[in-house]
Amino acid sequence: MANHHFGKFADVWKHLALVEVLALERPSRYAETHSGSGANAMLDDPERRFGVLRFLDVADATASLGQSRYRALLNQFGDAHSFYPGSALLAMAQLGCSASYLLCDLDPVSAGDLRAWSARLGITRCEVAQADGMMTVLSWLDDSTGPATDSQVIVHVDPFDPHSRLADGLSALDVAARLADQGYGLVYWYGYDSPDEASWAYHTLSEKTQGSLWCGDVMLVDETGAAGPGDLGRATTPGTGCGIILANVCEDTRATCQALGEALATAYAGSTLPHGTRGRVRFSVHER
Ligand SMILES: C[S@@+](CC[C@H](N)C(=O)[O-])C[C@H]1O[C@@H](n2cnc3c(N)ncnc32)[C@H](O)[C@@H]1O
Repeated sequence: MANHHFGKFADVWKHLALVEVLALERPSRYAETHSGSGANAMLDDPERRFGVLRFLDVADATASLGQSRYRALLNQFGDAHSFYPGSALLAMAQLGCSASYLLCDLDPVSAGDLRAWSARLGITRCEVAQADGMMTVLSWLDDSTGPATDSQVIVHVDPFDPHSRLADGLSALDVAARLADQGYGLVYWYGYDSPDEASWAYHTLSEKTQGSLWCGDVMLVDETGAAGPGDLGRATTPGTGCGIILANVCEDTRATCQALGEALATAYAGSTLPHGTRGRVRFSVHER
């Protein structure tokens, strides 16, 4: 298992938005640069109790969360208290055999688990690459027949390190900008651990691309609305945040993700944060 952060609050927002994008955009090809495992054995700890376990507790009290595709898929996998499905498994479950897939991860255990899940779901066209995801996805798209601009493709870029550069000098952000400019559907995840970094990847990508972008940013704040330095990757504390950037998706998809982000913030109002103090989620949107 190379993903130690599964099922935390950051996954809830990422996966809630991702699955809805797939349901609305209905791509015929789906690629992930950093897929992780198909699923991970569930942990019952403060991070998951604030993450997916809290989501399961509160979702049904809010129409849009209770009727979300993410909620439905957590139900479909039965006991979300025993394992948590990662983004690639959620995508395969949502799109089924209507799409072909390229799922990348450097970790051999994750790659093996992705292969096992695609076989279990009967997915007929799924390539799992134990290789660098950004190089592999770019060449998969370059090798594909058809127009350079293909609105039927969604690429999920979920970088481990958004700034590290590939052999050809491209960072994950450069790859995302290139995909957005070429017209591919893009779902890009970013995180941060300081309030002044909120929505940072939107601002960076806005400088690198010409196209339209949508960003939904979720940041933890204390109950007064204040946030200090956060703790991304270690704890979900005030000042910790993350977001999803969408490119080349339709207006309805943006509006639906916005409604889900607002509902999520409402559902998490007055929460007990993983480290025990009271707090809430601040949701903000940028678009152009
Ligand atoms: C946070 S996890 C992925 C989570 C998954 N996308 C999800 O939302 O459920 C990050 C994964 O990236 C993988 N990874 C790190 N660098 C990579 C690279 N250059 N290419 C492909 N995978 C990479 C790690 O092995 C790890 O499994």
